[in-house]
Amino acid sequence: MDQIIVTGNGELSGEIPIAGAKNACLTLMPATLLSEEPLTLTNAPRLSDIKTMTELLQSLGAEVTSLQGGQVLALSSHDLSNHVAEYDIVRKMRASNLVLGPMLARLGHAVVSLPGGCAIGARPMDLHIRGLEALGAEIELRDGYLHAKAPQGLKGATVEFSFASVGATENVLMAATLAKGTTVLKNAAREPEIVDLATCLRKMGARIEGDGTSQITIEGVDRLSGATHPVVADRIELGTYMLAPAIAGGEVECLGGRLDLVGAFVEKLDAAGIGVEETGRGLKVARRNGRIRAVDVTTEPFPGFPTDLQAQMMALLCTADGTSVLEEKIFENRFMHAPELMRMGAQIDVHGGTATVTGVDRLRGAPVMATDLRASVSLILAGLAAEGETVLSRVYHLDRGYEHLVRKLEGVGARIERVKGQ
Ligand code: EPZ
Repeated sequence: MDQIIVTGNGELSGEIPIAGAKNACLTLMPATLLSEEPLTLTNAPRLSDIKTMTELLQSLGAEVTSLQGGQVLALSSHDLSNHVAEYDIVRKMRASNLVLGPMLARLGHAVVSLPGGCAIGARPMDLHIRGLEALGAEIELRDGYLHAKAPQGLKGATVEFSFASVGATENVLMAATLAKGTTVLKNAAREPEIVDLATCLRKMGARIEGDGTSQITIEGVDRLSGATHPVVADRIELGTYMLAPAIAGGEVECLGGRLDLVGAFVEKLDAAGIGVEETGRGLKVARRNGRIRAVDVTTEPFPGFPTDLQAQMMALLCTADGTSVLEEKIFENRFMHAPELMRMGAQIDVHGGTATVTGVDRLRGAPVMATDLRASVSLILAGLAAEGETVLSRVYHLDRGYEHLVRKLEGVGARIERVKGQ
């Protein structure tokens, strides 16, 4: 397996282009199942998760063609030949479950494997199931698969989510576009990826209002048309690269970055002593003089501090002046980066969903292991300012969510290389 070697190499400077959002693309792609006409997605990120979603949609009979080196995806599901999302694909990527709502709405039946747990948590689907049942679906769990049917089609209803689940909101939103009558989603997720999905669905003819707030109203229509839609910028990749100059020093401009995508995160950077400036091309980030200040962080659904940036923020706080408390409120096991950071000399005390980080002067490079996508990149960030060499194994986790990571960091002066595995 490949490894990535990063050596602390002083301050960074230059520009990093931000790609289209993985988590927007993974819900926009299944939207093709809702219509017989072609859907074209531009600004698509080149990631292994996108390849997995492509494989899944093709297994259902959809056509997915990758153009311009993967930046454009041409999708069409005119003839769907199969309505079963098999376990061996779904287990690789939880977002595969986002074919359930659209397939049910378009075909009246769907069989989707439960994703099974993953490194960061059990990740059940009860909110997806309850939401679709409210629209009239009959869903039964058998042999690890959800067997869903709606022989008379779906009917609009009011759905109140007990938790603002991103995936459940996306699944039910997509299904509701073809349900008969009006659907109201309450306590809906407000993430920018939801707004991006709703914007694309409206281009396809869906009637949706309120996306981006906790109440979304959908008037069902008989059919949807095709569309062309640019994938929104990836706020998690953006936040990740904003932390590179914060940790290593210097100044980096993240091209395509938008402040409205990372509001709560920027507030915490400001409190820690990091300056962020909107330029005409993106966000320019620089550490103000002096040491990073300790800050407390609690992860919440958008617009709160994103759980997907918690590991990366911890890497920054490992060398802050003082003690920081990080509370992970979204997933039950998302501190696996902590023991790896401790191998680099970090002082972290984890109890349940709370991690207390006592800043040290400097970390020291060490061999470390990637465990999940965001944990892996936090180790790369820590290595940018650590003394000596950090060697990261199992980098396939990184390939799921960060396109051209080595090239982007090399481009701003980081000493980083990827070595082919044996
Ligand atoms: C999406 O996952 C993202 N993935 C995750 O990003 C992100 O961490 C998460 O939202 C939270 O922002 C994609 O968009 C593809 P949830 P999702 O449903 O939809 C519990 C990354 O690194 N829950 O909002 O699965 C669940 O167990 C990934 O890019 C239920 O209990 O997140 C979790 O504790 C990781 N029942 C919490 O809610 C349900 O039916 C948040 O889940 C659904 C969720």
